[in-house]
Amino acid sequence: MNFQALSTSTSIGVIGAGAMGAGIAQIAAAAGHTVHILDAREGAAAQAIANIQAQFLKLVAKGKMTAEDANAAAQRLMPASLISELSSTGLVIEAIVENLDVKRELFSSLEAVCDASCIFATNTSSISITSIAASLKNPARLVGMHFFNPAPLMALVEIISGLATSKELAETLYATAKAWGKTPVYAKSTPGFIVNRVARPFYAEGLRLLNEGAADCATLDAIMRESGGFKMGPFELMDMIGHDVNFAVTQSVWRAFYNDQRFLPSLIQQEMVEAGHLGKKTKRGFYNYDDHATPSMPNTEGLAKRPLDITIFGNSRAASALAHRLHSASIVFVQGEASDDRIVQADGVVIYETDGRTATHRAQANGIHQLVLSDIALDYEKATRIAITVAHQANSQTKQIAIGLFQVAGYHVSSLNDVAGMAVMRTVSMLANEAADAVNQGVCDAASADTAMRLGVNYPRGPLAWADEIGILKVNQVLKHLNDFYGEDRYRVSPLIQQCIFAGTTIYA
Ligand SMILES: NC(=O)c1ccc[n+]([C@@H]2O[C@H](COP(=O)([O-])OP(=O)(O)OC[C@H]3O[C@@H](n4cnc5c(N)ncnc54)[C@H](O)[C@@H]3O)[C@@H](O)[C@H]2O)c1
Repeated sequence: MNFQALSTSTSIGVIGAGAMGAGIAQIAAAAGHTVHILDAREGAAAQAIANIQAQFLKLVAKGKMTAEDANAAAQRLMPASLISELSSTGLVIEAIVENLDVKRELFSSLEAVCDASCIFATNTSSISITSIAASLKNPARLVGMHFFNPAPLMALVEIISGLATSKELAETLYATAKAWGKTPVYAKSTPGFIVNRVARPFYAEGLRLLNEGAADCATLDAIMRESGGFKMGPFELMDMIGHDVNFAVTQSVWRAFYNDQRFLPSLIQQEMVEAGHLGKKTKRGFYNYDDHATPSMPNTEGLAKRPLDITIFGNSRAASALAHRLHSASIVFVQGEASDDRIVQADGVVIYETDGRTATHRAQANGIHQLVLSDIALDYEKATRIAITVAHQANSQTKQIAIGLFQVAGYHVSSLNDVAGMAVMRTVSMLANEAADAVNQGVCDAASADTAMRLGVNYPRGPLAWADEIGILKVNQVLKHLNDFYGEDRYRVSPLIQQCIFAGTTIYA
């Protein structure tokens, strides 16, 4: 049975009137609930209410809310100064400081004043729900309700159950979040829940690529945006989040998983934190945000001669889009019978899509010296940039021929030093691997993992759906090659991916 959303006659308590608490109070009041806001800092609740009312007026000005609705919602917000003022609420959402002991103490005080039927929710982003609930007389009443920042704008809410959490109450909050216009997903209380766990490789693989000298930050960011379809690249995103915050989340997930190499923090980021280069907020991170700073530009290859003799092989997504783009540019090419999985051959240079090996390794394995690899794109038809890497065995013209080919197809070309798995393929494979592990460990189902990543961090595609599109065999191959190349446990393949391959299915099939 599915439980109903709380009715709007249920009044709600929000504790903590900071960035998250204020956003949550705004959502609940707009949805029709009376909301009591409590904060330990004097005046903070009243200030939050004034700010929310200003937000409502902005929504009215934009035509997104009527003046009557805004006025009524504003009237439903009440400051509270004592916990006892929350005694008549049916749901209390906590959004105070991220500290286990402080949260436990708060919920114990609430348990002393609230009715036994009142649901307790915590917006913690990293503390175990099981652990916060453990100090309650009735731990079943505590549910994780993890909103994303800024809460009024971000659709995702993770509804997290600890070991003791009542299924009925989790379902009630799921339905309530939905009634508030959000997209909830269920998750089990494990480190990082869904989003903060599955997103780790997005930052970590970027940092590892930088550490290995694959390219500079601006180039890697441009590849992730313009080929990968991500709204922001990892370095600009970390700069925006703040390195202190991002590094703390990585460390907390890594420690919580008993130092699993999958989550190993980066020394580069540690240095940034130690130097106080925290990103945009300190005007210095991977980029310089001083008013007069020269913007960092990605490395884009200069114009190269177009190749004369082009053969496209097979009808993979990369090959079909290349054929289409060359055709649109009136470039003559022939369609060849592929003897292996090469995409294209141009003036004797053979180009493959990366399979997780370096170009140098592939050249040696295939016995082809004039060998270039290309990275994957989210949408090869629309991508504006493509990354390539060239085998060390190749002659001096090889790179120029590959650049010329992709340029006539309308791509900006960025060349990477010859790293395994390149940028987009390596990152997406690792995101899918982490999502697959979360599913395999019962944290969430595949659709919830994908929804969480699309809505919680704006990924252009859910990593598992993306893995199916790339081909689960290919993703497996990439991870295995990374594992062989680096010899690190970090790249071990998720049992879920392996089982899909044994069964001959895809993740979603
Ligand atoms: N900021 C984010 O991006 C984000 C996203 C999701 C979840 N969270 C989680 O939400 C919670 C709040 O984060 P935030 O960014 O809003 O923090 P914040 O610092 O902006 O606000 C916290 C507020 O809680 C108040 N407070 C602290 N201890 C209190 C207590 N014992 N009783 C009453 N009030 C108390 C503070 O005075 C402050 O106003 C944390 O658990 C955080 O991990 C944060």
